[in-house]
Amino acid sequence: MTSQNIYILAIESSCDDTAAAVMLNGKILSNIVASQKIHEEYGGVVPELASRAHQQNIVPVVDQALKKANISKSQLSAIAFTRGPGLMGSLLVGTSFAKSLAFGLDIPLIDVNHMQAHILAHFIEEDDFKKPPFPFLAMTISGGHTQIVKVESYFDMDVIGETIDDAVGEAFDKSGKLLGLGYPAGPEIDRRAKLGNPKAFAFTKPKVTGLNFSFSGLKTAILYFVQKQVKLNPNFIEEHLNDICASIQYTIIGILIDKLKLATKQTGIKHIAIGGGVSANSGIRQALKDGEQKFGWTTYVPKFEYTTDNAAMIAIVGHLKFLEGNYAAHNVMASSRLKI
Ligand code: KG4
Ligand code: ZN
Repeated sequence: MTSQNIYILAIESSCDDTAAAVMLNGKILSNIVASQKIHEEYGGVVPELASRAHQQNIVPVVDQALKKANISKSQLSAIAFTRGPGLMGSLLVGTSFAKSLAFGLDIPLIDVNHMQAHILAHFIEEDDFKKPPFPFLAMTISGGHTQIVKVESYFDMDVIGETIDDAVGEAFDKSGKLLGLGYPAGPEIDRRAKLGNPKAFAFTKPKVTGLNFSFSGLKTAILYFVQKQVKLNPNFIEEHLNDICASIQYTIIGILIDKLKLATKQTGIKHIAIGGGVSANSGIRQALKDGEQKFGWTTYVPKFEYTTDNAAMIAIVGHLKFLEGNYAAHNVMASSRLKI
């Protein structure tokens, strides 16, 4: 090891995944995620169960991340952790663990904003992945977030649009629940959408002006539509499931693309980077590709394991803040509503 080597251990525990990663000079050496299956039975994340599972998972996950990276704790330069936003009980587990480890090893502690991390995941050193140039627009879409952010530099970011109710992932998951699909329903809707007709059923798009989003009305529209149809034909869902999924996905993609079009128009920025679990959606990926042809966009999608909740994205923010000497005080607190 030379003195220039920067080893960051990063910890992410904001929602229902306990994750740890080790990064060397901006490159990932290990990226471990323990997903909590327990929530599937409940059709959504149960906060109390999530924090208990984090407590069980955190030591083995960190241990595995260090082993996989083949380094010892004494080589670490700093500990980075997710300070927020997220579920308070979940954040507290990662925060307290990171604090004690940094204190025990007498190395810097670095607090990370989870939403910034989703965006800066694009800057993890990876062969074959291009990084967006500044300024760019970032759209973070997951089960917990829906935001469009204007990114001027690593730490100069402005949220220019966000959801006023449900996140886009919730729109997938809650619609799926109405159709009797398991949780999370996004991947299943995506799979079925490929087999169905996206224009079979029309759902009105929410009327939210500007760059903000709303998805709760869509869920209600789908609920009423399904209830009405099932009254006429009890087998309606089974008989039309692929078409319903394709139509829901088509509507959601339409909402996202409309907002991106408006954002590029308002800002004049045509570089668009996406992140969050919903960016795995094949329809959204295709619509972004089409946008390159149709609207002259350049789009950026990071490696899949860096789009869902993970600690690699926390590590890159830790690395960038370490370079600036931007450390947290040892009395830093978790913050469930932390803003960008
Ligand atoms: O980023 P993520 O793993 O966790 C957070 O919510 O932060 O995102 C999970 C969300 C879920 O709502 C899931 O249904 C959705 O991402 N999702 C998808 C797809 N894969 C995951 N939604 C649509 N299409 C997919 N292929
Ligand atoms: Zn997230």
